[in-house]
This record gives sequence, structure tokens and C-alpha cells, in this order.
Amino acid sequence: MCGIVGYIGDRDAFPILIKGLHRLEYRGYDSAGVGLIHADKTLSIYKAKGKVSALEQSVENKDTTGTIGIAHTRWATHGEPNETNAHPHFSQSGNLALVHNGIIENYKNIRETLQKYGRVFRSETDTEVLVQLIEYVQETQKCDLFAATQQALKTVIGAYAIAILDKNNPDQIIAARKASPLVIGVNKTENGRTEYFIGSDASPIIEYTNQIIYLQDEEIAVMNRKGKLKITNLDNVKQTPQQQTLQMSLDELEKGGYPHFMLKEIFEQPDAIRTCIRGRLDIVDQDVLLSGILDHKEKFLNARRIIICACGTSWHASLIGKYFIEEAAQIPVEVEYASEFRYRNPVIFPDDVVIAVSQSGETADTLAAIQLAKSKGAFLYGICNVIGSSIARATDSGTYLHVGPEIGVASTKAFTGQVITLSLLGLAIAREKKSLSDEMFHMLVNELQVIPDKMQWTLEHNKDLASFAQMFTYAKNFIYLGRGYNYPVALEGALKLKEISYIHAEGYPAAEMKHGPIALIDEEMPVVVIAPKRGMYEKIVSNIQEIKSRKGRIIAIVTEGDTIVKELADKCFVIPDTRDCFVPLLAVIPMQLLSYHIAIAKGRNVDQPRNLAKSVTVE
Ligand code: M6R
Repeated sequence: MCGIVGYIGDRDAFPILIKGLHRLEYRGYDSAGVGLIHADKTLSIYKAKGKVSALEQSVENKDTTGTIGIAHTRWATHGEPNETNAHPHFSQSGNLALVHNGIIENYKNIRETLQKYGRVFRSETDTEVLVQLIEYVQETQKCDLFAATQQALKTVIGAYAIAILDKNNPDQIIAARKASPLVIGVNKTENGRTEYFIGSDASPIIEYTNQIIYLQDEEIAVMNRKGKLKITNLDNVKQTPQQQTLQMSLDELEKGGYPHFMLKEIFEQPDAIRTCIRGRLDIVDQDVLLSGILDHKEKFLNARRIIICACGTSWHASLIGKYFIEEAAQIPVEVEYASEFRYRNPVIFPDDVVIAVSQSGETADTLAAIQLAKSKGAFLYGICNVIGSSIARATDSGTYLHVGPEIGVASTKAFTGQVITLSLLGLAIAREKKSLSDEMFHMLVNELQVIPDKMQWTLEHNKDLASFAQMFTYAKNFIYLGRGYNYPVALEGALKLKEISYIHAEGYPAAEMKHGPIALIDEEMPVVVIAPKRGMYEKIVSNIQEIKSRKGRIIAIVTEGDTIVKELADKCFVIPDTRDCFVPLLAVIPMQLLSYHIAIAKGRNVDQPRNLAKSVTVE
């Protein structure tokens, strides 16, 4: 994980770096640090354990001047989260300072070798190895920093996005990446000078410029104060930077009056889904226009099977996608935990389509899973939210969710966006294959069109959960139950509660209760049941009765107008009626809100829960 920011130009670097770190805190917040070169060419490093705000406090009364700097917010992998292990790390001489996102897998070997040559390490991190190695190469091969960095990176195994300051070259920043993202922002100022920004994503940059360059794997860049930018690969072959205009506003990144990003993102869902669907549903001609599919129709039509690789919430959305694609398009679909898939020797045929589903597009396990699939000849399709992300670029084709940036660590609007996108994909294939009757196809397309309004209705009828949530702060455990399309929603509800309230929760297919978990039920156990008046209604009512007779506390999600479950449950949340396959899009909303309010009642930091980060860029 970890977030990197950098700046070189005429402005004061420190405020830019700190603001950027705040925007990247979703990537980790175990410690933060900043490195600055002052006007007198001295290099200062300031670090603090904990969040960026702790760093800000720690530098009060210190010299934070300077127009060139790098900064880092850490999610600890090697070495505990303390000040010593915080970035930037100095080289032996103290001339170089480096920040890093990623993992250097062969760091132990390199460290031991360097120690033999007299290098003394101060931290337990894999990162310090990089800066020490670069300096060692520079000194022994008598080359400049750029060449030394190229050479050093060739010996490194693992993932890195780095930025380096050099006291002896105070007018430049060097940056490089492999398997961890790095974006360069380019801005022409009013006086005609060029300034450069660096970020792990575009969020620290967008306030200043929308002109960006995504550094590619094994590329290294040097930016200097004269506005020059040089990019080469590690063999020193010059690369031509592809400058792009980024379509993302700063407003999209702010909280917009909500106390937390998570709540904002829950309430954004109707609009986010409208945007996600926009232009993709042709109501007049009754068609689904998903460009990534249209361009590769044959791959999908001739697919022996679809394999979806994902993690966490994206895995839950993928399971719903499987149910829908199998039902609508009649293609077998397997949903794999990317972290398991990548380390098995899975059977993959060249006529398999492998879909990666990932909000961030940076999840290391998902990226590795598709790389494995690619090596076995499968066609790769990406469903990502973050534009230009690693997974989006590593796949043969794909589609973006277009639900806007998701900042809260707990995924909410990305989940509904993923379910919608997978439904669109299923419908697009079904249309081509004619595996759905026209009547059914029209019904589903028309229903999808009104889902954003139904989400809005659901939000309006369930918004005030704060006092209800107070009643559950005592709970040590929760059970979530659903059947069919709602089983993955039960899994998702349980995950949402676990990750932000730290209450243990389990999701089960409701009918599995009698095979063991029902033994857990007593008057202390809250059980959330998704019980829409659809397909398996009678069966889920029986499951509720079984829990009720064992004194479980039932919180049910029911269709508006339901009377039977209302009689049985301690509390009901209502959703409008919709087709079975779209119930997850509505049922998940009260669950997101319930988790949010329970977490708030317990005083948790919902946007930055402990031990987590938004993008899991380490395995
Ligand atoms: O960015 P991705 O969708 O690949 O992330 C996968 C999971 O890490 C993510 O969904 C995680 O489970 C969320 N924090 C859940 O809210």
C-alpha cells in the first residue's frame, strides 16, 4: 500500500505534500513523513508515527520551507509502524532520501550483501535497502543518480513506486515504478514555467493540473526545476511520455457536507448508478451497449467459461454477477478469490474469458491472478473503477464503473456499480446469444433503468438508523442470512460490519443454518435476514421462524407492504419491489447504513478502520 506525493516547482512544497498525503491516507495511515530541500540546499526529513495530522503537529516550529519535496503515508509491511520505519529513508551518507510504495521481495539478500560492504541500516524496512543500494551503485560505479537508480532497480525483485531527493542535485526529483502505481502531473504556470507533481494516484495532483502521465512498469523519470522531464526504461532507452487530460474534479474528492466519505458514498449511489448506466442502456432499441464487449463479441460468444477473479467486496459483487450471467447468458461462471487462484495451478483454456473485478484496479492479488491467466492464453477483461489503474491497463478489454472516486475504506458505491456492470455484461452477452426471450430482456432492461430511483427511495425510507444502531453496540457477534441472489449480499453485509465496527459477523445461505450455525442463536444474537417478497419468500420466512423460536433478534430487510415478516421480526427495513436479480442493489443499502451507524455508535473511525487500507497493493 502506502501513498507517495512529490512536488518540484516555484511554490512552497510542504502544503502541497501534506494536502496530497491527506488525500492518499486511504492507502495507509500507520506513519507519515516528508523530505524537503530548503533554499540553502540542505535536506530535512520529518516523520511521525500515526496519521498525517500527527506529522503536521510534529513539524510546528520546524523549517518546512522549500520548493521541492517528497512525502509518504505508510501501511506497514516490513517493520512495525514507528518513526524509524517511517519514510523517507536516508542513504548511508544522508545525501539521498527516498519514499517507496510496494514490497522489495529480495531485500534480505541485498541488505546482507550491502552490510558486508559496510552499509549500516537504521530501519527494519525493505525500503531502506533501495536507497542504500542506489547510493552504493552510485559510489562504486561513479555514475550519476539516474544511472545508479536504473542499475539498482534492475537487481530488485518485487514492486516499487519510488521518489528520490538528492542533496547534491537539489533541483531534481527522480521517480520510478514497477507494479505499484505512479502518476506525474504536469502544469504550465502563468509565468510560463513548468512544475511537476507526483502521486500514487491523481488525487494529490488534480487540484493543480489535469495534465497527467501514468508512468509505466520499469520506467524511470527525472524532473528538474527548469521544467525538463526525461523518461527512460531501466536500459536507458528513452520513452515518449503519453500526457493525458484527466476527467476528474476536486469536488468529487471532497466530503460534500457529509461527516464521512462512507456516508457520502452510500448516499451517492443513485446518482453514481445513473452515471454507470448512462449511455449503456438503449431503451429505444432495447439494447445494451457495453463498448468493451461490443469490440470483443466473439470472445464472449465463444467462451467455454468465464472465470471472475476478485477480492473482498468485489468478490461478493462477482458472485452476484455469476448468478446473473449464468441465468441470463447461459455461460458457466466461476468466481475465484484472486489470492487463492494465483497460487494454484488452475486449468485455464485459451477460450476462457477471465474477468478481473476491482474497485481500485490495484489489488496485487487480482493483478497477479490475471497475469497468470494471461500466461495461459485467456482473454482478459477488467471491471475497475479507477481510471488508468494497473488492472485496467493489464487487461485486453474492459469497462469502467464510472461511479466516481471511492475514498471510504469500506466499499459501498463500487459494490453496487460492480453488480450493475456485471448485470449489463450478462445482458449484453444474452442479447447476442439470444439466450433470453425478448420479453424477459425488455423487462430486465426497463427495470435496470429505474433502479437508481428505487435506490433513492430506499435511502429516503431508511436514513435514520442512528438511534436503532445504538441498541447493538453491546453485540459481539452478528449473523447475516440470505438465499439465492441475496446470499452474497449477506456476505457483504457481514463484511461491512466487521471491517468498520470490529464486531464479528458471519454471512450464511439461510438454509445452511440448520447444518450447524443455528447452535449460535440465543437472545443475544442479532440476525439480519434479507427477506424480499420474491422467489424464495416462503422458505426464508421458515428460516426466520426457526431463528425466532430460538429467541434470536431478527432484523429483516423486506419488500414494502410486507406483513408476514413484519410480524416476526424485531425490526424491518423496507425496500421497493424489484426483480430477484436486482434485489441486492437495494437490500445492500440498509446494511451499509446499519454498519455505518453501529460503527459510529461505537466511536470507530469508519473511513479509516484499523489495520486496513483502501488499495491492497501487497499480497
Ligand atoms: O480495489 P478492490 O475492489 O480490488 O479491493 C478489494 C478488497 O480489498 C475490497 O473490496 C475490501 O474488501 C473492501 N475494504 C471492503 O469494503
